[in-house]
Formats: sequence, C-alpha cells, structure tokens
Amino acid sequence: MSTAPTRTLIVGSGAREHALAWKLAGEPGMNTVYVTPGSAAIDAEPLVSSIPGIDPLDPAAVLAAARGVAAELVVVGPEAPLAAGVADALRDAGIAVFGPSRAAARIESSKAFCHDVAGAAGVRMASARAFASGEAAAARAFVAELSATGDGVVLKQDGLAAGKGVVVYEPDEIERALDHLDTWLDPRHGDGPILVVEERLRGREASVIAICDGRTAVALPASRDHKRLCDADAGPNTGGMGAYSPLPDLPEELVREVVRTVHEPILSELAHRGTPFVGFLYAGLMLTDGGPVLLECNARLGDPEAQVILPRVAVALGPVMAAAARGSLGVAPGTASGLLPVFPGAAVGIVLASEGYPGKPKVGRPIDGLDAATHAGALVFHAGTVRRPGNGYGTNGGRVLTVVGRGADLAAARTAAEAAADAISWAGLQRRHDIAADPPLAPATLAEVGT
Ligand code: AMP
Ligand code: GLY
Repeated sequence: MSTAPTRTLIVGSGAREHALAWKLAGEPGMNTVYVTPGSAAIDAEPLVSSIPGIDPLDPAAVLAAARGVAAELVVVGPEAPLAAGVADALRDAGIAVFGPSRAAARIESSKAFCHDVAGAAGVRMASARAFASGEAAAARAFVAELSATGDGVVLKQDGLAAGKGVVVYEPDEIERALDHLDTWLDPRHGDGPILVVEERLRGREASVIAICDGRTAVALPASRDHKRLCDADAGPNTGGMGAYSPLPDLPEELVREVVRTVHEPILSELAHRGTPFVGFLYAGLMLTDGGPVLLECNARLGDPEAQVILPRVAVALGPVMAAAARGSLGVAPGTASGLLPVFPGAAVGIVLASEGYPGKPKVGRPIDGLDAATHAGALVFHAGTVRRPGNGYGTNGGRVLTVVGRGADLAAARTAAEAAADAISWAGLQRRHDIAADPPLAPATLAEVGT
C-alpha cells in the first residue's frame, strides 16, 4: 500500500526546490511542505513554510530540522548536501529520505567513479581515462590518441564543480588542451584521480531523470537544458539557462529504452557494490548518430529541468517518493508503466540571470513585473531573490528566476514563456531568447545504449 506523506521537508533554496515545493503543496493530503533553508518567495507559496537559518551542508542541523517538524519524508534537492552525507544522517536516524547516500551520490561527485560504474554495468559512455597528478605524460599520450580521430577532446575536473569543471576543446585547440593538462596535473595538487580526459561526442543533449528505490526506476518526462549563456549556444557554460519538455527527438519509447539500458544497469551495479541508489538518478545523454550515449550522471533533479518537468507530472509525487524511500516504488500509483503519467502539452522554462553571471553576479537590484508574469498564467520559480523592505523582491544571486510557460505544444508553451519573461525586468538582466526555438522534430536513432 502507498501512503501520501502529510509533512514533507525539502532541503535546498533554489528554483528547483521552489518547483518541487509548489508541486507537492498542490497534492491531495499534503498538510505542510517545509523547505530548509528555503527563501521568502518559497515561503509565500500556499501550504509551504521555509525554515531559514539551517546550513543544508550540516547533516546534524538538517536532522534537527526534520525532527522539529516531524517530517514524514525528506527530499534532498541539490548535490552538495548529498555529498556531505545529509541523506545518510537522516536514514541512520530512521527518517524516510528520498536522496542517495554519500557513497551512491559519488556517481555525480566523481566523474571517474561514474565511468567505473558505467563500465562495469555495460553502459556506453564516451571513452575516457582518469589521471592523477604527476601523470601528465600518460595523459598527453591519451589526448594524442583521442584527438587522432579529429573530433577534439574534453577535459573534466573530478569532483563537484557546479558545471564549471568541464572544457570542450575543438580539433584545432589540442595545444591548449595539452597546456591545461600540464597545469591541472601539476604534482603539487596531491593524490587521487583529478582529471578525466574524454572523447568528444557530437549530437544533441537530453536529460532523462528517473525516480529510483535502489532497484527499480520510473522515468520522469525527458527534457533538454540549454547550458550556454547566450543565444545559439554561444558564450560560457552555465548551470543552465532554460529547458523544455517533452523532446520531439526522444519519444516515450526511447525514454523507456534509456531507462532499461542506462538507469537499470547502473542501479544494479550500485546495489551489487553495497551502495543502492535511492533518489533522482539523472542521465545526461548525448543523442549521437549511433544512438544515445551517457555523458554524466547526477544524483538529483536537474535545474532548470525540474522547473519544466514537475508541472507536467500528472500524479502525486509525494506517495511515489515515499514509496521509493521505503524501497518499494512499485506500490505507488502511476508507476506501473515505467514512465510517470504526464499532462498533455508542453512546458518551456526561461532562466533570468543577473549581470555578471556565470562570473560574479551583481545583486541587490529591484525586480519589476513579477505579478504581470504570473497573471499571464506563467509559473515563476525563485532561485536568487530576497524580499525588499516594503514590498516586492530584489535580485540576490546569479540565476534569479525561472519563468515557465505551458501550452498545448512546444510552440505555444514557448510563446507563453517568452511573454512572461518579457514582462519581468531589472537592471542588467541576462537571458536567452531561443529556448525551445525550432526544436528538432526527427526522432533520434533507436539504437542500443549498452555496449
Ligand atoms: P558534464 O558535467 O560531464 O555533463 O559536462 C558539462 C557539459 O559539457 C555537457 O552538458 C556537454 O555540453 C559538455 N560535454 C561533456 N562531456 C562531453 C563530451 N564527451 N563530448 C562533448 N561534450 C561534452
Ligand atoms: N541542468 C543541469 C544540471 O542540473 O546539472
């Protein structure tokens, strides 16, 4: 039997956690959704209450907050608290938690570990090798081997780097890659695999995120993030500047195939190693001409993907996550087909960011037009805002808001999102104007993902 939690605690304070709180607060039987540390804007949602002043990286503090509100389920949003062992502390104390242990979250926090697990599980990734400090000569040889194909190489810092630890080198930039490699593998950096050298893949990216109970997985609708700062994928990589769902080039039968060939083997391998994965398992894929290839795993919902996925989910998520936390995902309504039921139509999310982002953002600027955007029917999820004295909100971070438009199809959702984003302004606002513009219509090749 599945049970709906009546008091849920979400750990985090970004637009992803705002979207999760909004979704859970609208579900039958929910009494209060607590969010720690949350924010003033999250607190303003009906049935949602922020618990400020808690360090989300401090397992004891999060445990005390969960006990303080008698939470029946805790959902951990961002990666850093997972890597800090917050889920372990809650689970050890007997609290139902939806989020992986620190050991299982290494699938995100160490790219070398992700390659190791995927390799053992037979899941296809770009060919790659990890190098420790002092191994620059071997790394140079591997770069030469990969770049012989003429497709460039990718260098990835091992460990969490908030999207900034990856550099993609074009075929004519190999010399720069070699220079970088020498700097990164300087023996003074200490031990451990600190650099992953990877084959550069080409194609369109896609995010397939599944709810996992340690053994089985149920997919959320597929989505696509836009990681570069500027239109037409120009400018630096960011945490994500917008997203859309569904993907015309990744239909439901292919999502099911990805879960079967990526998520399920990885879950089996992690369980076999004694570190079962409970939580959102995020597969970042490259849809190549030869089929989908796994680029990375994350141990959480994507941001901004969550902001477009969650409004599309047509079943209550509370009972699904509670069942997964108990290791029995299959008992929750809506999980039988392997894909969570969705509302018809589409969602497009546009991230509004501060001047200076992804570098040091300029903050403290008053935001205009929030009411106009919501009155137009858009969802506005807050990431970096503060309540201003008097009324209204001001900017307080790099990514400030995600504005989500919904419609009968991607074109209609995009029109709604653009209109709502146009209504919002502040000095120095940065955003893209091509999120979900002309998404590719041809489905990707249906090819085996496993090797
Ligand atoms: P990651 O953190 O591994 O997802 O890398 C961040 C971004 O770098 C990805 O979303 C891709 O845009 C790009 N990237 C990573 N690995 C590769 C690869 N092997 N080939 C091409 N692009 C990549
Ligand atoms: N949007 C990509 C991520 O959350 O990692």
